[in-house]
Amino acid sequence: MTNQKQVNELELKGENGKTIKLAVRQPVLGAPGMEISPLFSEFGMVAYDPGFASTASCESAITYLDGARGELLFRGYPIAQLAEHCSFLEVCFLLLHGELPNQAELEAFKRDLGREAVLEPSVRRVIESFPVESHPMAMLISAVAALAGVYHDSTDIHDPVARTRFANQAIAKMPIIAAAIHRHRTGQAIESPRSDLSYTQNFLHMTFGSPVADVSAQALDLLFVLHADHSQNASTSTVRLAGSSGTDPYAALAAGIASLWGPAHGGANEAVLRMLNEIGSADRIEHFVARAKDRNDPFRLMGFGHRVYKNYDPRAMIIRQMAHDLLQHLGSRDEPLFELAMQLESKALEDEYFVSHKLYPNVDFYSGVIYRALGIPVEMFTVMFAIARTVGWVTHWQEMIADPKLRIGRPRQLYIGAARREFVPLGQR
Ligand code: CMC
Repeated sequence: MTNQKQVNELELKGENGKTIKLAVRQPVLGAPGMEISPLFSEFGMVAYDPGFASTASCESAITYLDGARGELLFRGYPIAQLAEHCSFLEVCFLLLHGELPNQAELEAFKRDLGREAVLEPSVRRVIESFPVESHPMAMLISAVAALAGVYHDSTDIHDPVARTRFANQAIAKMPIIAAAIHRHRTGQAIESPRSDLSYTQNFLHMTFGSPVADVSAQALDLLFVLHADHSQNASTSTVRLAGSSGTDPYAALAAGIASLWGPAHGGANEAVLRMLNEIGSADRIEHFVARAKDRNDPFRLMGFGHRVYKNYDPRAMIIRQMAHDLLQHLGSRDEPLFELAMQLESKALEDEYFVSHKLYPNVDFYSGVIYRALGIPVEMFTVMFAIARTVGWVTHWQEMIADPKLRIGRPRQLYIGAARREFVPLGQR
C-alpha cells in the first residue's frame, strides 16, 4: 500500500497485481476515513477489525470525541460549556435539532414532551408482571419493547414528523418508566408526572413520591447532560444496527438498552459501586490495583479505561467536582466512599501499568457516588444512564434513517470452522 502525500486516495495492490485506488474521506474533525467498500468487489477481500477499533460505521454530525486530547463536543460545543450553562432539555434539543433552542423553541419542546408524558397501561402491566427482585434493566428492556406494541402500527419511520414524535415520546417516557420500575421494586404505588416540575425534578418526584431538594435535581440534570450522547459506543451502534433493518424504533431502543446493561459499558457504574464496597478501606486499595494488573485475574478496575479516551475523560473530571460539591452540600454519609474512590484514582494514576496503558477514570467512575447520595439504589444506576442516553440513541436513529445512503448493517466474517466435507448418514457415524 502506498500512502500518497495528500491523503485523498490510497493505492492498494492485490496479489493478482491489480491496483485499486481507495478514496480517503476527510471529516470536519478527527481521523480521515479510507473507503474500503471496493475491497470485496475488486479483490474478494474483507477488512478484519475485531471490536471495530479502526472502523467508522457511518458518517455522523452529532458528537465528536478526541481521545488523545480528552475532548468531547456535542454539535460542536465543548461538553464543559454545555454542562455549565445548559439544562438537560436544552442539550436534548441541541442534539436532536443541531442548534441550541431559543426561549420559545425550548418552551415548545417542553410542551411537546409534556404531551407524551404518560405511562401506557400495557407498559405498566409489563413492569408489574416482573418479580420485584428482578434487575431493573431487564424490566426496562421489556417496558421499552412493550412501547413497540403500542405504537408500531401508528409509526411510519419514513415520515419525518412521525420520527420526531417518536423521539419526543421516548425522551418523555423514559423517566416515567424508570420511576415506575423503582416503585414496583420497592412495593410502592406508581406516581404520575407533574406538569409544573422540570425533567429531573419530575423524575425524582415520581421516584421518591416526595419533594426533592433543588440541588439534587440540578446535580441529576448535570449528570444527564454529561451522559446524553457519546458517538458510536456499543449501545448506540446497537440501536443503529438493529434500526438499519427498518425495525420498529422502540425495538431498536430496547436492543440498545440491552447492550448498555453490560459491565464493560453502562453497567460499569453499578460495578464501580460494588467494587468500592468490596475494597472497603484505603489499606486494601493496593491489593485491588495489583489484581487489576494481573493478567491471570479477570478483575479490572471498574470505571477505568476507555476505547477512545487515552486521557482523562472530560466527563469524569466534571463529575468528580460535582460529587465533591454535592456531598458537601447534602452533608452526605457517602463522603468516605468518595474519599476511597479518590484514593483509588490517585493510586492507579501513579502506577506504571495504568500510566503506560493510558487508563484514566471514565464517566462511570464517580457517577455512582452521586446517584447513591441522591438515594438511588445501586441496581438502578444503569437505568439512570439509559434515561440520559435515550436522546443520543434516538438522535442517531433519526440521523441514520434520514440518510439516503442507509443500507442494512451486515458485517462480513472470517470463517474459521470446519472445511467443506462430505455428509455421513446417521448409521455410518
Ligand atoms: N483495569 C485494568 N486493566 C485494564 C482496564 C481496567 N479497567 N481497562 C483496560 N485494561 C487493560 C487491558 O487489560 C489491556 O491490557 P493489555 O494490552 O496489557 O492486554 C489494555 O488495557 C487494553 O484493554 P482492552 O480491553 O483491549 O480495551 P478496550 O478498548 O477493548 O476496552 C473498556 C475498553 C472500557 C471496555 C475497558 O477499559 C474496561 O473493561 N474498563 C472497565 C469497565 C468500564 O469502566 N467500562 C465503562 C466504559 S466508559 C462508559 C461507557 O461506555 O458506558
